Amino acid sequence: MILTKPWLWVPSRMAHDLSPYFLQLYAGLKARRTPTWKSFTWQGLEFKNPLGVAGGVDKDGEQIQAWWNLGAGFIEVGTVTPQAQPGNSGQTMSRNLARQALWNRMGFPSRGAQHMEKNLAPLSEPHLTPIFVNIGKNARTPLETAQDDYLYCLRKLSPYADALVINISSPNTAGLRELLKPQYLHSFLQPLAEANRNEFARPLILKLSPDMSDEELETALEVSLEVGFEGWIFTNTSTGLREGLAFPKEGGVSGGPLALCAKNKLKKALEVLGPRRRGKLLISCGGVLSPEDAFERLELGADLVQVYSALVFCGPSFFQQVAKQAALKPPEVLTP
Ligand SMILES: Cc1cc2nc3c(=O)[nH]c(=O)nc-3n(C[C@H](O)[C@H](O)[C@H](O)COP(=O)(O)O)c2cc1C
Repeated sequence: MILTKPWLWVPSRMAHDLSPYFLQLYAGLKARRTPTWKSFTWQGLEFKNPLGVAGGVDKDGEQIQAWWNLGAGFIEVGTVTPQAQPGNSGQTMSRNLARQALWNRMGFPSRGAQHMEKNLAPLSEPHLTPIFVNIGKNARTPLETAQDDYLYCLRKLSPYADALVINISSPNTAGLRELLKPQYLHSFLQPLAEANRNEFARPLILKLSPDMSDEELETALEVSLEVGFEGWIFTNTSTGLREGLAFPKEGGVSGGPLALCAKNKLKKALEVLGPRRRGKLLISCGGVLSPEDAFERLELGADLVQVYSALVFCGPSFFQQVAKQAALKPPEVLTP
């Protein structure tokens, strides 16, 4: 694997920091065409295929044209914070090749909402593929006023977003996951949903944690549904799943070790929602590392699938690899 993927020779953070340059170069060689497979329309948004870029890959929305050239069916940019911030210091990334696992404790390095706005505003609409904007809070904002950060990003970036992803499931911003707890969730989400309804009417999507218990997941679904959320992402990185991996104790694990948990959360959500899932958007994310993994998530009931780790371990041609395999499937297999 490592011979054909030179970025796996260099330390993971360095590879991450160099990836925009490599991506520009590589994507520049590719045709600008989004492969069509299992296409569908949701809330007026056209998805030519259901495989997209997960949050955190393109944190500032700087590589959108490259993702389009590479064949992504949709792109989630961010997590963006209101003000620019550097993220955590010290070791922030690592990988395990044998297990196709990533570890990170980046803590939302972001060039800020204004910079994101500058990158998104010039794109002509409708976008070539849907663009989701994933929003978070600055590290120095106390939890008590975190809502203001989310409202700020919502107001600033909704005009350019096809949907907004509320990220309160990252393990790398101190205390953030507290907001997912049943006792805080309603009062946190409700004002965001109300502001959105009154001002922008963009679909709101909640990104969930793989470390939630089934009861917490159920409550999060019920509360978010009640206040008007339209979709969910299962899941962010996990603070567990370290068995056999020499990763530090803090931070989050993704890639191979996350697959089972991500699938279980999707299944549980489908069970909880039942017929209420109709018209909602269920996005599976975590441990999708091959075309078959992507197809399995769709067969389980996901509407969309997202990848981060696959872009590291399989490379930026992953979208085309999956599209090629999809073309070989009998049409009924990938037809809803
Ligand atoms: C280095 C790194 C940075 C990430 N940054 C973010 C982020 O800023 N916002 C977010 O919502 N998720 C972030 N994630 C989580 C991914 O979006 C995704 O939920 C997780 O990696 C599971 O998908 P995967 O197994 O395909 O990697 C990050 C993941 C990694 C590995």
